[in-house]
Amino acid sequence: MEDYYLVVSLIVIATLCWMAGVVKVVLALTTLCVALSLAQDSGSRKDMASDRLVWTAYVLSRDGSVADIPRRRHFDPLLDLDPVGVMHYWGYPGERHWVETDDGYVLGVHRLPGPRRGAQDADADPNDVDSDDADKEDVDPERPARKAGRPAVILAHPLLSSSAEWLVTGPGNALAFLLADAGYDVWLFNVRGNTFSVNHTTLSVNDAAFWDFTFHEHALHDMPAMIKYVVRETGQQTIQYVGFSMGTTIMFIMASERPDVAKHISLFTALGPVAALSHSRSRTFRALTQLSPMLVRVSRLFGVHRFLPSSSAIKAAGEYFCADGCLTQPLCTGLIAALSGRNDAQMNTTMLPYAIARTPSGTSFKNIDHFSQVLRRGFQAYDHGTVENRRRYGQDSPPKYNVSNMRVPIRLHYGLNDHLADYKDTEALCPRLPNVLSCEPVADPLWTHLDFVWARDAPNLVYSKIIAGMEEFRTVA
Ligand SMILES: *[C@@H]1O[C@H](CO)[C@@H](O)[C@H](O)[C@H]1NC(C)=O
Ligand SMILES: *[C@@H]1O[C@H](CO)[C@@H](O)[C@H](O)[C@H]1NC(C)=O
Ligand SMILES: *[C@@H]1O[C@H](CO)[C@@H](O)[C@H](O)[C@H]1NC(C)=O
Repeated sequence: MEDYYLVVSLIVIATLCWMAGVVKVVLALTTLCVALSLAQDSGSRKDMASDRLVWTAYVLSRDGSVADIPRRRHFDPLLDLDPVGVMHYWGYPGERHWVETDDGYVLGVHRLPGPRRGAQDADADPNDVDSDDADKEDVDPERPARKAGRPAVILAHPLLSSSAEWLVTGPGNALAFLLADAGYDVWLFNVRGNTFSVNHTTLSVNDAAFWDFTFHEHALHDMPAMIKYVVRETGQQTIQYVGFSMGTTIMFIMASERPDVAKHISLFTALGPVAALSHSRSRTFRALTQLSPMLVRVSRLFGVHRFLPSSSAIKAAGEYFCADGCLTQPLCTGLIAALSGRNDAQMNTTMLPYAIARTPSGTSFKNIDHFSQVLRRGFQAYDHGTVENRRRYGQDSPPKYNVSNMRVPIRLHYGLNDHLADYKDTEALCPRLPNVLSCEPVADPLWTHLDFVWARDAPNLVYSKIIAGMEEFRTVA
């Protein structure tokens, strides 16, 4: 019944935070900490996911006022920085860019153009200074970004996440920093609707129409705009791409349907690839699929379209409940295990508050529903029901995505204990892809989904391989 306690407590926290001042919250939290640690039955702990968990997520999405509680504890200044702030905090250059899609969304894109300031920079050319303007508010004056020079790579984040995911474990550990250290010009993508991409030329985030998208639109509008922007900005005709989870889904679709844009991708590195979910063991995710059609209907009724936006309630919960030394920390790790698989040896609990401060990052209810459809019916466009399907697609059922169409060379890395992107799905996918360079499980047999970004040994077990695999495609063309 642990999940029951969890849900009740989350609802209580949300309500209290919303209603009350900090003293009451702290008192209540202390009580809850004790209650929850009693409820914790570590002997028989299994996946704690359940439909109730999903409902909690729903409640957190619904109540806008929850998003407004100030966080007082000042756990660490890093928690409040956006990705570019984090780059600067660690002494790296960083830039903010805005990328407009053909349907009017304005995506917030973050660029980590090179290694730490002052670090030995082999291919630096002091004369090659890029003085062109754009709207880069944060260009470091001492070290202007250069056109071309470093090979560009786009990193694409998973569902409910953002560009911040690639930085969270810090320099020396996080993939974005390692790539920058290895001499790459790293572009961190943000899909429409997440924390950093809520602008639109005509729509407001309060419009239902703003939230009428799924990963299909990420693949066919957001990513092409991003790729064209990076090509234009760097002058490089071919760039590399690393996707994780939904970040791979986006490229699978884009590369199958838009060969004209995919020709700019020299290598696609896929982590925890998702192009089918039929073997997904994640109970949280399965519960979500059961409920998502109803959630979509209820959310329409109440005019709520944004699913699990970043909120200070969740940030605060991360600080209060998941930090080292809190009795409730096992609940946090239990939740993560329920979603992605369990691998205690790789879990760095110290990092949890930082990770949770940045995830979830918001998406549309419709996107969640589309993933549910993929789980139940296979890798295909969103099913709107027969009438609307006929209007949109000219046929009764939605068209299937055909990954056999993609020509981009691809390296896949997957986890044998990944409960979301199950290895059986990946092993079935690889033979269908025409241009696979490698399709390998991570050496740790307990490797889970989130281990790709959070694990202690991700740099040794995965990132070193990624970077080695990228080397042969490292050309500046
Ligand atoms: C996008 O929205 C954010 C927050 O509302 C704002 O600070 C930013 O200037 C906007 N950017 C553009 C290009 O509209
Ligand atoms: C664990 O996380 C903390 C906080 O982010 C970090 O300082 C530490 O280096 C990490 N440990 C490992 C082994 O990655
Ligand atoms: C998928 O694409 C491949 C290669 O382009 C083609 O041979 C195959 O018939 C397609 N499959 C379907 C179901 O359309």
